[in-house]
Amino acid sequence: MSERTYPKVTIVGAGNVGATTALFTLMHNLADVVLIDVAEGLPQGKALDMMHARSVEHFGPTVCGTNDYADTAGSDVVVITAGVARKPGMTREELVAINTDIVRSVVDKVVAASPEALILCVTNPLDVMTYLAYKQSGLDHRRVLGMGGVLDSARFAFAVAEATDADICDIDACAIGAHGDAMTPMSAHTTICGKPITELLTPDEVDALVERTVFGGAEVVGLLKTGSAFVAPAASVTQMVRALLSDEETTLFSCVYLNGEYGISDIYLSVPARISNAGVVGIDELALCEVDLLRLRESAAITAASLDELSLRTSAS
Ligand code: LAC
Repeated sequence: MSERTYPKVTIVGAGNVGATTALFTLMHNLADVVLIDVAEGLPQGKALDMMHARSVEHFGPTVCGTNDYADTAGSDVVVITAGVARKPGMTREELVAINTDIVRSVVDKVVAASPEALILCVTNPLDVMTYLAYKQSGLDHRRVLGMGGVLDSARFAFAVAEATDADICDIDACAIGAHGDAMTPMSAHTTICGKPITELLTPDEVDALVERTVFGGAEVVGLLKTGSAFVAPAASVTQMVRALLSDEETTLFSCVYLNGEYGISDIYLSVPARISNAGVVGIDELALCEVDLLRLRESAAITAASLDELSLRTSAS
């Protein structure tokens, strides 16, 4: 009996985030996966281990590990996780120098092998690396995006659930802006059973949840001591991959190119965006109060300063 055919997703970087994303992609039966890394044996070993689980878990698609970009040819989506993760006490921004060179060279090889692919960047500092991937690829900005807001909003939802005992399924959380210390969790847009948390909790309680969200990634790094979070990041990437393989539009907090939305231009930041297998198909602006809008623009200004250090931007916002 012939097997079903699946779309093709390449994951660059066989570290914890890349390998866990590969596993989630398989377990959700989303796509055949090519896991590629510069380290010889690492992607092959992790892929083989996952394939050994296939008869237990009964997932349909397959994964292949490789060091050769020829194997990635014709991918529908390419997820870039390659790069160095932060250590305890480091900010994501401190990774800029080392990860810039890695992302540049990965993007060149990805685009040569799969000129039609959508590119989903995960490497930190996320908003800067996604912009870099866009510039380096030469692709339309609608075909290059990043994963930040899905994860940050998931961490906000967790913080709210833990503090209030609310069912996680009743919480809709919204954290947008930069995927870094300049992140902007939006409390007025974060609800429990449809009610904003700003109406349910004191301002001090809300501030504590915002703080826990912004430093959620650092909290994990501090506990692990080596390496950074990977399960929630991989789950968030996988949700975006599912949307990027579908011909139906899904609204997700995605790191996308802003071209005047929220008064911000020529910057990648996370905002609610409609995405599908056509890439970023629309950005419907949230109605933000003046204070939240200013916070989002401050987040943009901080990202712009990092981009300007790399002389990447063509215009000023
Ligand atoms: C984190 C990394 C993925 O926030 O940026 O855990």
